[in-house]
Amino acid sequence: MTVLVTGADGYIGWPTALRIATRTDDRVVLVDNFARREWVESVGSTSAIPIQGMEERLAAAEEVHGLSNLSFVPTDLTDKSAVDRLLSIHEPNVVVHTAAQPSAPYSQINGERANYTQHNNLQATRNLLWGLHEHGLEDTHFVETTTTGVYGAPEFPIPEGEATMENGGERDEVPFPAMAGSWYHLTKSHDAANMRLAHTQFGIPISDVRTAITYGTETEETAADPRLATRFDFDYYFGVVTHRFCAQAVAGYPMTVYGKGEQRKPFIALEDAVEGLARLALEDPASRPDDHVVYNQVTRAISIVEIAETIADVAGEYGLDVAVEHFENPREEDETHKMEIENDRYDALIGGQSTTFEEGVREILGALLEYEDTVTAHEDRFLPGVLTDDEADETVVEYEDDESTEEADTAATTRGE
Ligand SMILES: NC(=O)c1ccc[n+]([C@@H]2O[C@H](COP(=O)([O-])OP(=O)(O)OC[C@H]3O[C@@H](n4cnc5c(N)ncnc54)[C@H](O)[C@@H]3O)[C@@H](O)[C@H]2O)c1
Repeated sequence: MTVLVTGADGYIGWPTALRIATRTDDRVVLVDNFARREWVESVGSTSAIPIQGMEERLAAAEEVHGLSNLSFVPTDLTDKSAVDRLLSIHEPNVVVHTAAQPSAPYSQINGERANYTQHNNLQATRNLLWGLHEHGLEDTHFVETTTTGVYGAPEFPIPEGEATMENGGERDEVPFPAMAGSWYHLTKSHDAANMRLAHTQFGIPISDVRTAITYGTETEETAADPRLATRFDFDYYFGVVTHRFCAQAVAGYPMTVYGKGEQRKPFIALEDAVEGLARLALEDPASRPDDHVVYNQVTRAISIVEIAETIADVAGEYGLDVAVEHFENPREEDETHKMEIENDRYDALIGGQSTTFEEGVREILGALLEYEDTVTAHEDRFLPGVLTDDEADETVVEYEDDESTEEADTAATTRGE
């Protein structure tokens, strides 16, 4: 058997690849184009925790965990012929697709970055799905980390998958409407729809894993050696809210809550996200439903203000005195939205969450304190507006603009993850 992990240089992809490879002797093929490293650099930031190049990572994985089943193929997934080569050579039985431009604020910098994000994410997924079909690999289990952001912020409990629609006295189960709130998030709504279509048309078994805001610095495998560390971003564009707040606490900055901050957002620890993806990747094909399954990859919904207060409390344990400040909200969002989200299927998959949010914050702050100098050297990157228009123009990464007119029409809101 062969498992292909895309986005394998990324925050989630790297620890996922390691977890899968430690649980099987089968081949695990890693793919990435290192775009994330360039994006973060282009907005003037860096991973707070130092990360190695892929060669060093693989050598360390072999030395520390005895993993000789990992290999890496540098590939830009928007290049159809490269994806075709990849699939025809490796013939994966499972694809764990985590490659994407995953930042909402980055996708909102300007129209060019919105185009780039939608082109990158949609084309990569389409290339993989069509590639599986065109190479006779329709039995390959396709697992993608989409996002809980596809749901938007509805006033009812979010189902784990389909929504019930009633009209004219009749009812049916329908795909959840694409209510994403950013140009990035909408790429995942489109991916969800494209995966459904690929399942219907080609019969590809799909696990659409709607990933929540993921927090944490390490997993069991990455913690074993500093050379195996995964990246940790804390800037406005690429730092998720928990990571940014923890970095602010370490740098002695007050935590910036936009508006009231009473809106609840869905969260999951990196460890619990990686575990679910590894279990899906290694599911016995005989017991796997030959189907299209949606997982809400979330363990808890937490309000932004609760996050800030938990971090302030835990920071106190480290002798840090951290204030929580409310700023005018630059985003259009309901500041009191009580998100409720069903997660029974995902919870059953991983057998319940492994750590509490508070424990996660303790781990992050402990790790970040070791790299305090890196964080403080980039503390001007915490807030929006750090890029002038000219600087934003300079963030342009060249790409073949052969299909950059994907449709999307929602307004700016939040990175949401
Ligand atoms: N981290 C979160 O909180 C979160 C929340 C919800 C969903 N997700 C989703 O989970 C996945 C992983 O997120 P992450 O936080 O690890 O992001 P990440 O940016 O660290 O990882 C994505 C990786 O994909 C690679 N990549 C992007 N475009 C590519 C292309 N065209 N070809 C090859 N490689 C490409 C990047 O270089 C990067 O290493 C993404 O799909 C993201 O949308 C993440």
